[in-house]
Amino acid sequence: MSKGRVLVTGAAGYIGSHTTVELINAGYDVVGVDNFSNSSPDMLKGIEQITGRPLPFMELDCSDRDQFAKVFERYPDIAASIHFAACKAVGESVQQPLKYFENNLRSLLYLIELSTRDGHGRGIVFSSSCTVYGEPDPENLPISENAPVKPATSPYGRTKQMSEEILHDCVTAYPSLKVIALRYFNPIGAHPSALIGEMPLGVPQNLVPYITQTAAGIRKELRIFGNDYPTPDGTCIRDYIYVCDLAKAHVAAVDRILQVKDSDRYEIFNLGTGTGLSVLELVNHFIQATGVNLPYSYAPRRAGDIVKVWANPEKANKVLGWKAGTPIDDVLRSAWKWEKKVRGIQ
Ligand code: UFG
Repeated sequence: MSKGRVLVTGAAGYIGSHTTVELINAGYDVVGVDNFSNSSPDMLKGIEQITGRPLPFMELDCSDRDQFAKVFERYPDIAASIHFAACKAVGESVQQPLKYFENNLRSLLYLIELSTRDGHGRGIVFSSSCTVYGEPDPENLPISENAPVKPATSPYGRTKQMSEEILHDCVTAYPSLKVIALRYFNPIGAHPSALIGEMPLGVPQNLVPYITQTAAGIRKELRIFGNDYPTPDGTCIRDYIYVCDLAKAHVAAVDRILQVKDSDRYEIFNLGTGTGLSVLELVNHFIQATGVNLPYSYAPRRAGDIVKVWANPEKANKVLGWKAGTPIDDVLRSAWKWEKKVRGIQ
């Protein structure tokens, strides 16, 4: 028996593909949409191989209302959506803010309109980010959902803050709408099958893809941005969460929206492990877990980096009944397995 139909926007993307797998494994019918602007149709094949069934899918751009409306016409049984489709490069957003406002906000506005226009009660799980907290005050660490939202440091971050505010206002206005905003910390790793994973275009901006590409010999060395921060080893601290654990939190959020009738109609959850790791600690875990040599050097600080942030995930643990439990060495081995698969390394 199906638990209902879930629309996944950005289903071919990194977190979208892993979440689609977990939704199907949990008994949901999924329809995926993606315009492949920053993803590959190969991911859909990977999803189908893992789950052993065809994935209903429409190639379309969510920031084009007429295109986006077609998925609701073809699948009127959509009970909830998970909205991943968005541009996500922090640096690019500084150079091209309009691209980010147009794409990320337009697609959200259309999703809300299409989800509510016929008065049906549809849920939206929104892909937000810990970037909304900015640089947390040290007394707020680990950071919980009621910590202050700080002015965004990039247009990308601003779209996440604005999207949360838009959703909050719309929940007030439309009684049929229920929303859960999930604030991710740093998602890493790949599905254990190595059939889906992160696929950055060009030079990776994020730490783990840069590490795995360096280990694969594609990059000469990892440059660790800054070793003079006020942290125990001088490198920045983040909360790295396994993408499959993160994906399962989305299933728990959809379960809550569809099954818990008296829950608040707008809720926010931090999704992290609750443990901070420094860049150097992560590098050492990678070397230890994989046995692979990883050349690295120290480089100047990267503009805009925050010093340290990690989650207090107690609310998600308690209310969603979810916990990120995969050991970091297993997570890093999964990232390496995926990189080897992509590069054809034995
Ligand atoms: N880092 C390096 N070398 C690299 C890449 C990264 O030292 O080649 C360091 C960064 O300086 C940072 C840490 O590794 O200290 C993590 O960097 P990432 O780019 O992997 O992740 P960020 O925490 O900077 O960014 C992530 C998401 C963003 C999101 C942000 C919210 O990628 O989309 O978290 O805080 F906005």
